[in-house]
Amino acid sequence: MIIGSILENKNIEKRVAITPDIIKKYLSLGLKVHLCENYASHLGIADDEYEAEGAKIFKDENEILSNANAILQLNILSQQNLNKLQKNQILVGVLNPFTHHEKLKELVSKNIKCFSLELLPRITRAQSMDILSSQANLAGYKAVIDSFAYFQKAIPMMMTAAGTISAAKVLVVGAGVAGLQAIATAKRMGAIVFATDVRLASKEQVESLGGKFLTVEGSENLETEGGYAKETTDEFKQKQEDLLKETLKKIDIVICTALIPGKKAPIIIKKEMIDEMQAGTVVYDLAASQGGNSEMTKVDEVININGVKIMGEANILNKLPVSASNLYAKNIFNFVNNLYDKEKKNFEINLEDEIIEKTMVK
Ligand code: NAI
Repeated sequence: MIIGSILENKNIEKRVAITPDIIKKYLSLGLKVHLCENYASHLGIADDEYEAEGAKIFKDENEILSNANAILQLNILSQQNLNKLQKNQILVGVLNPFTHHEKLKELVSKNIKCFSLELLPRITRAQSMDILSSQANLAGYKAVIDSFAYFQKAIPMMMTAAGTISAAKVLVVGAGVAGLQAIATAKRMGAIVFATDVRLASKEQVESLGGKFLTVEGSENLETEGGYAKETTDEFKQKQEDLLKETLKKIDIVICTALIPGKKAPIIIKKEMIDEMQAGTVVYDLAASQGGNSEMTKVDEVININGVKIMGEANILNKLPVSASNLYAKNIFNFVNNLYDKEKKNFEINLEDEIIEKTMVK
């Protein structure tokens, strides 16, 4: 059995699905690894490194697409390449079924087995495959680093003979995986950190990292059984707005991470709130690619409204693609390891396995 991976569209994706250190693990399962020429040369990883680990490099990506039993990617393939896939081939990646519904429907009708890793259940057994967590963790860290770079004051409190500089105040909106890493990173750099979330379970997690949790008064716990956020009511939105409006006047940096799976990101930071923020405040919107938590976010732009800078990117992980690829490659290997039957030496689509059932696009 062969697993293969071809070049991503490098204009939008710098990460790769297979790193050299993971090749031996695939080989030890009895799988062959086929990759395209210059697969990760943009990350400073030469083809030789892959070959030294036992991968085979091909000049023509068509050879990979036609021979591989499973194709492992980050993003969905181009339409041209999707058209080349055959019955019973497997495609694994972040296929974004909500956006690529029609493309995936067509693949499924051709009996091509598509697995979308963002659909993984948040269960203990799937933790080592959880691409949402591994990537969100890095995104939360990088959002803090980038927003601090735009902030024109020092972050930690400094007491010097020339006077005292007060610590920067950071507000993290949404304390999931990205938000908790943002809190930890901002705390390590000496900021005073506040955070809010609709899931009350996150209060304890925020406090354990040294953050101050802002509770929307009288609110119920808006958490689904799967641990995700529910959509908020108009009453909740108003209470949250009242709370944040006052807080934001004193905040220096806002990191937005609030998401609801399968839906547009909730708008939390409204234009009137931005109008009342101090000049110099930086808003980093990690929800930008899903519509943004701030009303004024424009993807891949830095907007300046009376000195308040608002930014957000389509793919912040392109700014640390080596770390992101290392974690992604391990996640996808663990997924393939679960999908592959070592005794039968075949890919087994066992729909009784919750991980396989939930990730398979039907
Ligand atoms: P996410 O990326 O879907 O959302 C980010 C955060 O935004 C969440 O904490 C969510 O509650 C919050 N949010 C949504 N709407 C909001 C609003 N209007 N105002 C304020 N905050 C809002 O979530 P993520 O980071 O993927 O984590 C979801 C849950 O899954 C968490 O409870 C996390 O601890 C849990 N988890 C469990 C794992 C497991 O294997 N058991 C692995 C990873 C995460």
